[in-house]
Amino acid sequence: ALVTTKEMFQKAFEGKYAIGAFNINNLEIIQGVVRGCKARNSAVILQVSKGALKYAGAGYLKKMVEAAIEETGIDIALHLDHGPDFETVKEVIDAGFTSVMFDGSHYEFEENIKRTKEIVEYAHERGVVVEAELGRLAGVEDDVKVAEHEAIYTDPDEALEFVKRTGVDSLAIAIGTSHGAYKFKGEAKLRFDILQQITDKLEANGFKNYPIVLHGASAVEPMYVEMCNNYGGNIAGAKGVPAEMLRKASSMAVCKINMDTDLRLAMTGSIRKVFGENPKEFDPRKYLGPARDAIQKLVEDKIDNILGSENSN
Ligand code: G3H
Ligand code: 13P
Ligand code: ZN
Ligand code: NA
Repeated sequence: ALVTTKEMFQKAFEGKYAIGAFNINNLEIIQGVVRGCKARNSAVILQVSKGALKYAGAGYLKKMVEAAIEETGIDIALHLDHGPDFETVKEVIDAGFTSVMFDGSHYEFEENIKRTKEIVEYAHERGVVVEAELGRLAGVEDDVKVAEHEAIYTDPDEALEFVKRTGVDSLAIAIGTSHGAYKFKGEAKLRFDILQQITDKLEANGFKNYPIVLHGASAVEPMYVEMCNNYGGNIAGAKGVPAEMLRKASSMAVCKINMDTDLRLAMTGSIRKVFGENPKEFDPRKYLGPARDAIQKLVEDKIDNILGSENSN
């Protein structure tokens, strides 16, 4: 069924796993993701960025997601990823999305609170849940001092105040991940101590089992980076979050793990391979089909190795 994330997150928190949130923008990605989830009997969050909305249109995406629910029978939350403003939030709620993110992380603390609060009020009146973000998800530079590093991580005291004052349903935090295929220059490092402090602070102040969201969580699977590069691509120095760190995050308060880059790499690698091996091929089904299968396999592997959400449906 088409659901909000409320129940998904409570079950995930208690069961020490996380729900996968995968970015969608076309038919093959949607089918690959939901078929992977169906194979593992897992609930899922399908998320749409502003760019994806512009590319595919909210109407098309909503109808395809309805078809996906009919085909698979799994629970799906349809979510706005990195909502930039009130207008976009309104647009997707009108289109039937069940969850929205408002990303005010680039605003000053008070401004982020003010804008998030407005969106929470609007969404809650319409039965829609809200995710917000606090802290900056920038890549950590090797050469900046530790004190400066700290500035980009989410501050636990601010996290508590933010949740209290906005009434937001889940919070995306910065503990060292970043978007895209180039996440770490040196060794991968996530601040699990900060994640634990945030959970402890929330817990001590009456926010029991409060769901935390991890953005920028693609593993940047070497297999698909190599597949891209072996068939004419040029993706050098790509590095993602190691699987065991993501597994640890899912066992903690993280209830939603966002992945887009891995889907893009799987899709592009698969298509490049078909093109490289069959230069005469020009039937889109012959290259989009394998790309869809690769996405399904990727999602099954994520559920097995990172999310732990098998049988959560
Ligand atoms: O966090 C961003 C997602 O990967 C979506 O990216 O804005 O290029 O659609 P996009
Ligand atoms: P990745 O770039 O690591 O896949 O992160 C995606 C994301 O956070 C979407 O909101
Ligand atoms: Zn993100
Ligand atoms: Na969890």
